[in-house]
Amino acid sequence: MDSDKSILGTAIRPTWPSLLLLFTIMLVLSYQISTMTGLPRWAGSVRGGGSETGSVEPWSCSGDAPRRKVVMSITDFGGVGDGTKSNTEAFRKAVQYMQQQRFGERGGSQLNVPRGRWLTGSFNLTSNFTLFLQQGAVILGSQDPKEWPVIEPLPSYGRGRERLGGRHISLIHGDGLTDVVITGHNGTIDGQGNMWWELWWNRTLQYTRGHLLELMNSNNILISNLTFLNSPFWTIHPVYCSNVVIKDMTILAPLNAPNTDGIDADSCTNVCIEDCYIESGDDLIAVKSGWDHYGIKMARPSSNIIVRRVSGTTPTCSGVGIGSEMSGGISNVTIEDLHVWNSAAGVRIKSDKGRGGYIENVTISNIRMERVKTPIKFSRGANDHPDKGWDPKAVPKVKGIFIRNVVSLNSTKAPVLKGVEGASYEGICLKNVTVLGLVASAAWQCEFVSGFANDVFPAPCPQLQDMSSFDWCQQH
Ligand SMILES: *[C@@H]1O[C@H](CO)[C@@H](O)[C@H](O)[C@H]1NC(C)=O
Ligand SMILES: *[C@@H]1O[C@H](CO)[C@@H](O)[C@H](O)[C@H]1NC(C)=O
Ligand SMILES: *[C@@H]1O[C@H](CO)[C@@H](O)[C@H](O)[C@H]1NC(C)=O
Ligand SMILES: *[C@@H]1O[C@H](CO)[C@@H](O)[C@H](O)[C@H]1NC(C)=O
Ligand SMILES: *[C@@H]1O[C@H](CO)[C@@H](O)[C@H](O)[C@H]1NC(C)=O
Ligand SMILES: *[C@@H]1O[C@H](CO)[C@@H](O)[C@H](O)[C@H]1NC(C)=O
Ligand SMILES: *[C@@H]1O[C@H](CO)[C@@H](O)[C@H](O)[C@H]1NC(C)=O
Ligand SMILES: *[C@@H]1O[C@H](CO)[C@@H](O)[C@H](O)[C@H]1NC(C)=O
Ligand SMILES: *[C@@H]1O[C@H](CO)[C@@H](O)[C@H](O)[C@H]1NC(C)=O
Repeated sequence: MDSDKSILGTAIRPTWPSLLLLFTIMLVLSYQISTMTGLPRWAGSVRGGGSETGSVEPWSCSGDAPRRKVVMSITDFGGVGDGTKSNTEAFRKAVQYMQQQRFGERGGSQLNVPRGRWLTGSFNLTSNFTLFLQQGAVILGSQDPKEWPVIEPLPSYGRGRERLGGRHISLIHGDGLTDVVITGHNGTIDGQGNMWWELWWNRTLQYTRGHLLELMNSNNILISNLTFLNSPFWTIHPVYCSNVVIKDMTILAPLNAPNTDGIDADSCTNVCIEDCYIESGDDLIAVKSGWDHYGIKMARPSSNIIVRRVSGTTPTCSGVGIGSEMSGGISNVTIEDLHVWNSAAGVRIKSDKGRGGYIENVTISNIRMERVKTPIKFSRGANDHPDKGWDPKAVPKVKGIFIRNVVSLNSTKAPVLKGVEGASYEGICLKNVTVLGLVASAAWQCEFVSGFANDVFPAPCPQLQDMSSFDWCQQH
């Protein structure tokens, strides 16, 4: 400070108005610099490639699929693409053959699915492997629940998400793999989920529904250039994975299909989701990390997640949802260039008592919304716990949520920011957020949150005019 003063003293006459002007210019400049930096530094590890160890080969959001030495077709294994014959055995045999021949260690393998309608039950993938759906190829999910066998629940959930005990396996599944690519010339994977939604609606579902695609404990995953339809449950579920790229995907389910989330990154690190169009009956994108005491015990966070250029609609849920299962912690999430319309919420942060965990360093920017009921929403759950073992003292810790450059047209509600009683939700920073279409009396609803809002319309709640948050919000 002393040296600053002397420089000022010799350069200009330090009158109070000139000091004030200088201070203002510095503030404006530092704000511009902080908003111009764009992606945080860690984004480089996803783009430039590799995990923290740096030992894996480059894996970027824009990277191409690797070439495989052995390329075979599902027809080589007796597959018939007539829409009626079951190909369960053909797919299982194909993957088993590639494993037994150790193609994974010898330049990798690719299984092509040609034009046609290929009915199948669940099958597993293998490492150093590409599943390639040629133009006009459609994989159809079996309508026999026995072809979706029940497997163990995830340790971070302790039970199936919607029913006690195990859960139906996903249609396409992988566990403990490295280097898996699922791509093609916009072929389709159709889960034909209606049967499962009916079981849910008529309350006869015995075990939790399966995903369309689930990869567990796997690294270096690319899912691109395909259309996924009618998942029974969450559509794409990477869990306990790292280095995951999901891009150029179309994901569709009827707007009333229950729990048909588009993509759920769950206890995963280094995930990049970009250029996807999603229409479904639940969150377009969700970031999760386990459920209450099971998630706390497993402590597998989701971190370094990028979501960009995603658009779509979900009438009862949100464009991007963080939580509500977040007990292993969630940090370093960047969401940008999101376009959401005719939806219940744009961006939603969900947690509750019993969850524990944390949500830290989340940047949300350049969000466009039309006819979204509540554009920005923090909420707590409705007594949604795995069992009686949850700890009411385990509350989430939320810190550093930056929301800027948001325009919402024809909304019905001003932002709703409801934290959890007894939990800390601090450093909630909003800047340049405009919510239009509201009745004149519409006001922000805030509870148990603190932070600073600047250049927002309508005027923010008092909890977001906390001067002690001002510097912190400016600096981050
Ligand atoms: C996958 O390929 C890499 C080399 O590219 C090899 O080191 C590794 O053993 C392979 N993994 C499997 C399971 O085949
Ligand atoms: C697929 O893998 C799961 C475990 O990840 C296993 O329970 C199941 O039996 C496997 N299915 C086949 C057909 O190999
Ligand atoms: C993606 O699909 C389109 C349309 O079928 C095709 O032209 C293009 O080559 C595909 N891109 C990749 C990377 O496979
Ligand atoms: C892929 O197919 C879907 C469904 O037919 C279509 O909506 C989408 O535009 C196609 N994507 C590309 C890149 O052609
Ligand atoms: C519930 O839905 C399933 C699947 O469509 C159907 O097989 C079953 O008969 C239905 N049960 C009742 C009680 O409606
Ligand atoms: C999140 O990013 C910061 C730097 O921006 C880094 O220091 C921190 O280690 C990251 N957290 C995780 C869990 O990777
Ligand atoms: C959040 O970011 C700060 C500053 O970059 C970093 O020190 C901290 O480790 C990050 N938190 C997590 C949980 O990654
Ligand atoms: C405010 O946000 C809107 C919407 O993203 C953007 O077009 C505009 O340039 C932003 N204004 C400033 C001053 O950053
Ligand atoms: C918003 O609502 C007005 C009045 O109903 C309508 O004229 C306008 O087209 C709507 N705009 C959008 C983007 O929905």
